[in-house]
Amino acid sequence: MQVVTSIEELRSIIKWWRGEGHSIGLVPTMGYLHEGHKSLIVKAVSENDRVVVSDFVNPTQFGANEDLSSYPRDMERDAAVCEEAGADVVFHPEPEEMYFEDNCTFVDMDGLTKGLCGKSRPTHFRGVCTVVSKLFHIVTPDRAYFGQKDAQQLAVIRRMVRDLNFGISIVGCPIVREEDGLAMSSRNTYLSPKERKAALILHKSLSAAEEMAKAGERDAGKLISAIVKSIKTEPLARIDYVELVDAETLEPVGSIKAPILAAIAVYIGKTRLIDNFSFSPEA
Ligand code: PAF
Repeated sequence: MQVVTSIEELRSIIKWWRGEGHSIGLVPTMGYLHEGHKSLIVKAVSENDRVVVSDFVNPTQFGANEDLSSYPRDMERDAAVCEEAGADVVFHPEPEEMYFEDNCTFVDMDGLTKGLCGKSRPTHFRGVCTVVSKLFHIVTPDRAYFGQKDAQQLAVIRRMVRDLNFGISIVGCPIVREEDGLAMSSRNTYLSPKERKAALILHKSLSAAEEMAKAGERDAGKLISAIVKSIKTEPLARIDYVELVDAETLEPVGSIKAPILAAIAVYIGKTRLIDNFSFSPEA
C-alpha cells in the first residue's frame, strides 16, 4: 500500500490502473479512522479492483468557531488501518495541495443542505460538496463509499452526483456502533469518561422511537416528543435538533407514509454528536 500526497502522482497511478482495466473504489475520510471507516474500506475492497482512501481534514467544511484545529489526526495509525483493510492507496494531501490560495470556486446546493445540520452549520455542505467533487475529479472512481451515520451528507452527495452527472455509484453503508450502542465517530475522542456515558442517550432515545414506529406509531410529532423527552433526562445533553424527515427530500413530515429518516444532533458538553435511524412503513 502506498501513501500519496500529490494530486499529480495519484493521477498517474489512476491512469495506470485504468490502462490495466481495473475498477476503482474511493472511500473519502477525514482520517482518525475507526471501525466504521474500516467497514467502508472492506466493502470497497470487496467490490473494486483497486481502492483509494482519502485522508484529508477538509478546512472548507468547518465553520469559523468549529473544531478544525483540534480535529484528531493520526496518519501512522490510519495507514495501518487502511493497509489491514486492503486499500491500495491512501491519499493524504496537505491543504495547499487541495486548495489554491486564491480558490474561489465552490460546489453548493439548495434544498437538502438547508435543514438538519445545515441550520447550525450553514457553510458545512458547501465545503463537503466542494471537496468530494474535487476527489471525484481526481480519482474518477466507479464507486464511492459513505457511512449512513452522516445521513444528510449521504443524501446530499447522492443528489449532487445525480444533478451534476458524475456517473459514480454512491454506496451507503450501515452505521457501526460501539458495543454499548454509541455510533462510532472520530469526535467521540473529545468525550470525557462521564460524557462518554451520557452520550449513550442518543442511541437510547432513537432506539425507543424506532420501536414505537415498528409497533405502528405513524405520528411524527409523537415520535419527536418521545425522543426529546428521553434526551432531556440526561443532564449533560443539549439538543441541537430532533427531526423526522422524508428520506429522499429531507423535508419534515407530519406522519410516516413513506421511508423516513429520524435524525438528531445533540451536544454532550461541548461535543456535538449526530445519530439517526431510517424507517420504512412497508418494511
Ligand atoms: O464524512 C466525512 O468524513 C467528510 O465529510 C468527507 C465526506 C470525507 C468530506 O471531507
